[in-house]
Amino acid sequence: MNPGGIIVKEDPKELARVAAEKIINTALRAVRLRGTFTMALSGGNTPILTYEALASREYEGDMPWDKTQIYWCDERCVSPDHPDSNYGLVHRHMLSKLDLHSEQIHRIIGEDPDYEHAAAVYGRLIPPVMDLLVLGMGEDGHTASLFPGSPALAEPKHKVVQVVSPKPPPHRITISPIAINNARHLMVLVTGKQKAPVVMRALVGEWDPDKTPAQLARRGLWFLDREAAAGV
Ligand code: 6PG
Repeated sequence: MNPGGIIVKEDPKELARVAAEKIINTALRAVRLRGTFTMALSGGNTPILTYEALASREYEGDMPWDKTQIYWCDERCVSPDHPDSNYGLVHRHMLSKLDLHSEQIHRIIGEDPDYEHAAAVYGRLIPPVMDLLVLGMGEDGHTASLFPGSPALAEPKHKVVQVVSPKPPPHRITISPIAINNARHLMVLVTGKQKAPVVMRALVGEWDPDKTPAQLARRGLWFLDREAAAGV
């Protein structure tokens, strides 16, 4: 089990390089131990620099891409070419620069108008234990698309659920706390001073994941820039 920890770097770009290196090391270790590496990625602005770093010349040849299977932590219910699509974001900033087989890319079918169906299909697709989840956190303490007060936080059985989000776009498919708890490693990327108070709540606040869902990732490795780490 990942023991957790906090890494603070001066600026987001430097943070992204350290995060990319952590992903590479986690992947190499997973491949050494199990022959394969499964990781689920998030949307949002924060991880973009990390996705770009991973696909950059700087790390060319370092990541065992041929043994890597890519999944998503959550998806907005839009088509893959929509600007809000998390698949689209990862594609633009990383996948389009790599040469992966389509069988290595396991996206959530955000364009399925039957959200329950999309969640059920994706729930069957993801491995029971993911090697790594790359998560972010919103100013309200959400992670993946698990928002404060969401019934999804009490999901007793399914690894993937559909939710109605208070942030647009309203319909989303997300991993549940079960999938977060099952994952071998968690990385949480957070930058910006506006998130400093919620970083504190997530890491050391009273345990209440219904109010601060990102507490579910407390055992993970947190990558913070100086501003987000202001209170730590
Ligand atoms: C999503 C994400 C979400 C994200 C946070 C932080 O699809 O929106 O998966 O959980 O990580 O909202 O987003 P920023 O990095 O843009 O602040």
